[in-house]
Amino acid sequence: MNSVYALRREICEVGRRTYQRGYVAANDGNISCRMSDDRVLCTPTGVSKGFLSEDMLAICDMDGKQVAGSLKISSEVRMHLEIYRVRADINAVVHAHPPTATGFAVAGIDLTQCVLPEVILGLGGIPLAAYGTPGGPEIVEPILPLVREYDAILMANHGVVTLGRNPMDAHFRMETVEHFAQIALVAHQLGAVKTLNPRQVDDLIRIRGNYGITDRPGCQVNAAAPPSVLPSREPDDEAKAAGGEAAAELVERVTREVMRQLRNA
Ligand code: 13P
Repeated sequence: MNSVYALRREICEVGRRTYQRGYVAANDGNISCRMSDDRVLCTPTGVSKGFLSEDMLAICDMDGKQVAGSLKISSEVRMHLEIYRVRADINAVVHAHPPTATGFAVAGIDLTQCVLPEVILGLGGIPLAAYGTPGGPEIVEPILPLVREYDAILMANHGVVTLGRNPMDAHFRMETVEHFAQIALVAHQLGAVKTLNPRQVDDLIRIRGNYGITDRPGCQVNAAAPPSVLPSREPDDEAKAAGGEAAAELVERVTREVMRQLRNA
């Protein structure tokens, strides 16, 4: 594993990128990485991730007891520790609130459909965990079954958590999640989120090994009809309704003008 100083630097760099990309506001979010079997390095609570310095980070043991750092460790460190407990293969966790992906989480819509090759290759899908109060044990329970399988999870009415081999790896997964969410939203606004068919998905799963990717879950293949990531919004109806409203307003304006001229005649 990297030297402790290198890990501290990497967490600060991920914090800066997370803040600069708008994945968190103010003091939101938290970042951690494993230092050894019983030590985890983590961001402190209530501090902007955009302005971290190496000496601000805290260290705790696997029971959550803080053993180093002058600032109090993140209120969400227990979620990070539970994730490390079930995933021996990952060494870093990033939690943030990227706006588009979090919008999906607020709308109750997951990102598990087979849409983009890079997402299918690297993440499989991004499932949605039920809501739990931040900082408490309730936040962990809905996440744990999903964390066993997935490296990125939407948290209902809250945000996103990503896992990685190191902090930058977990950050890149956060970028992938937000990028996918933005693309899915634009495609939906344009009227169609077309998914890949089962054969195309199989081809992607087969070539995962070429990219050094193993043990990732698949996305949700819908063999029947090409589904939409988002529930259909029937743009025609909306457009008709909008057009109808505009026409009604025009008729009203013309009527008012005619009445005014008649009165003045
Ligand atoms: P902390 O500042 O305690 O890490 O919490 C931030 C946060 O985003 C909670 O969801």
